[in-house]
Amino acid sequence: MNPFSLEGKHIVVSGASSGIGQQCAISCAEMGARVSLLGRNSERLQQTLSQMDGTGHHIYVVDLTVEEDIKTTVQKIVADSGRISGLLNAAGISGTLLMKSVSGKKLDEFFQNNVYSAYILTREVCRMGHFAQEGGGIVFFSSIMGSYGETGKSLYAMTKGALQAATKSLACELAPKNIRVNAVSPGLIITPINENLPHITDPSKREELERMHLLGLGKTEDVANACVYLLSDASRWVTGVNLYVDGGYTAK
Ligand SMILES: NC(=O)c1ccc[n+]([C@@H]2O[C@H](COP(=O)([O-])OP(=O)(O)OC[C@H]3O[C@@H](n4cnc5c(N)ncnc54)[C@H](OP(=O)(O)O)[C@@H]3O)[C@@H](O)[C@H]2O)c1
Repeated sequence: MNPFSLEGKHIVVSGASSGIGQQCAISCAEMGARVSLLGRNSERLQQTLSQMDGTGHHIYVVDLTVEEDIKTTVQKIVADSGRISGLLNAAGISGTLLMKSVSGKKLDEFFQNNVYSAYILTREVCRMGHFAQEGGGIVFFSSIMGSYGETGKSLYAMTKGALQAATKSLACELAPKNIRVNAVSPGLIITPINENLPHITDPSKREELERMHLLGLGKTEDVANACVYLLSDASRWVTGVNLYVDGGYTAK
C-alpha cells in the first residue's frame, strides 16, 4: 500500500480552473482520486478536466461569494459522486495595495473571496451526510504573507492570517469526526493571480523576491504535492498545521 495514494477518495478542489488549484486537481487524479472541480470559468475548468487521469471527475461552475450557490453546489456534488473525503480550498484573489488605497469595498471583496467563501464551503462540506464517515482532510490555502510582512500586502495578508487562525480551531472542532484540518502557506509561484502585479512585472523587484526564496521560485506541482500528502493517509496524524511550501522564504 502506498500511504500517499488517494485511491477510493473523492476530493473537492476549489479554484480548479487556474494555477495551483488546477495542478492540485490534476495531481489528485494522478494519485487515484475522483475529483469535483469548482471554479467560475467553465472553459478553463474543462481544460483542467482534459488533463486529468482516470474517470468520475465532474466540474461545477460556481461563484463562491454566493452562499446559496455554495449550498446547492455541495448538494449536487454529493448527489453526483457521493460523500466527500477531502476538500482543497484553493480559490482566492490577490493584490498589492497600500493601506491608503484600501476602501471598505475592497476589504469586503477580499474577505468575501478569500475567507468567507472557503469557510462557508468547508461548513457545507462538513454538514451531516456530506463528509465521508471515516473522516478525511481539509486544506486551507494561506500564504507566507499570512505570517510575514511586505509593503502593500496588508489586505491580502489579513485574509490569509484569518485562514491560519481558522485552521487551528477547526482542527480542534472536527478531530472527533476524524476530519483533519491543515493549511498550506505557499511562497511565490507565478500564476494568473500575480503575473501582472508590480512585484512580478518589475524585473528588479522580481529578482529580489527570487533571492528571498532560498531555493528559487516554486512551481504549482510543489504545492500540489504537499496537498496530496495532507489529503492522504500518510498524514493521518497531522492536524492543525500550517505547512510552509516556500523554497526557504521563512527559514531566515
Ligand atoms: N501563486 C502564489 O504565489 C500564491 C502564494 C501563496 C498563496 N497562494 C494562494 O493559492 C491559491 C491559488 O492561487 P493561484 O496562484 O493558483 O491563483 P489563480 O491562478 O489566480 O487561481 C485562482 C482560482 O480561484 C478561483 N476563484 C477566485 N475567486 C473565486 C470565486 N469567487 N468563486 C469561485 N472561484 C474563484 C479562480 O476561478 P476562475 O478563474 O474560474 O474565476 C481560479 O480558479 C489562492 O488562494 C492564493 O491566495 C498563491
